[in-house]
Amino acid sequence: MLGSCFLKRLSGDKDFETFAFDKSDLDISDFNKVLDVFKRISPDFVINCAAYTAVDDCETNREEALKVNGDALEAIARACKSENAALVHFSTDYVFNGLIEGGYTESAQTDPINFYGQSKLRGEENIEKFMNDYYIIRTSWLFGEGGKNFVDTMISLGSDRDELSVVCDQVGSPTYVNDLCEAVLKYFLSPFLEELDKQHRRQFEDSVVEHKKVPFGIYHLSNSDTTCWYDFAVEIFKEAKVDVIVNKVTSAEFKTPAKRPKVSILKNTKLDFNLRPWTEALRSYLDLTYFR
Ligand SMILES: NC(=O)c1ccc[n+]([C@@H]2O[C@H](COP(=O)([O-])OP(=O)(O)OC[C@H]3O[C@@H](n4cnc5c(N)ncnc54)[C@H](OP(=O)(O)O)[C@@H]3O)[C@@H](O)[C@H]2O)c1
Repeated sequence: MLGSCFLKRLSGDKDFETFAFDKSDLDISDFNKVLDVFKRISPDFVINCAAYTAVDDCETNREEALKVNGDALEAIARACKSENAALVHFSTDYVFNGLIEGGYTESAQTDPINFYGQSKLRGEENIEKFMNDYYIIRTSWLFGEGGKNFVDTMISLGSDRDELSVVCDQVGSPTYVNDLCEAVLKYFLSPFLEELDKQHRRQFEDSVVEHKKVPFGIYHLSNSDTTCWYDFAVEIFKEAKVDVIVNKVTSAEFKTPAKRPKVSILKNTKLDFNLRPWTEALRSYLDLTYFR
């Protein structure tokens, strides 16, 4: 979902030479292949959107989850370091235990309560261990084109059924992949480009908007405002004009193989910008995907 959003946005952009890989071209858990590919293309900037994201499956396929979400980041980090490339990597609210009511700052203690979260945390740790020039961007509750997501699932279920039950005791911030992608390009990638290619860009563009380079480290980036899955579903049905009865259930009533954190709120205390409220982002997604 997020990877295809970056690809769509970057393909044909005159400022970038983009190399994109799916699993069949480059399995990120193949250490030697990662090193080979990085050596061949010698990237300046790497955006890793690949992950094992099936949260419940991670409980049973632990080895695979750890390989892709954890160990592969050692290869990626080492390859970035040897090619002198900066890395943007995406991580998750699920690295936290969800017990802190107000949410989590970037430096809050991690303590995952499911295996997906544990494997993603291992990935973060490997990046921190094997390279310096990284941005680890933790985000939450992604929706957008090109992947399995809550908005599409709700619209599909709501169109088939008269009644649905949705969990009301997990809170977080839904995030539109287009907003996340635009912010990463504007605030994280552009300053690099400006440094690498200032002279060239000045020659061809009347006004170059310069952004201060964001220091390397861990960041939290989600659409603004928070909600629970139940209220998120109600908003989706209201905006999409789907007539369905939505019932509240608790996590204890709606059992899943992987436990989910109760509080998934990621506080952004380090960046001097925020993404727009998730309700506005949802409207944009629905307009673009369902109403055009
Ligand atoms: N979705 C969310 O709600 C959410 C929330 C917080 C953070 N994140 C993080 O945001 C990032 C993007 O998430 P997303 O929802 O866009 O994920 P996604 O749609 O599931 O895409 C992940 C991609 O990674 C590929 N992949 C899996 N194993 C691979 C391997 N060994 N080598 C290369 N590629 C592999 C998958 O290919 P196949 O489909 O062929 O397996 C898939 O195309 C991930 O890091 C995720 O952990 C997601």
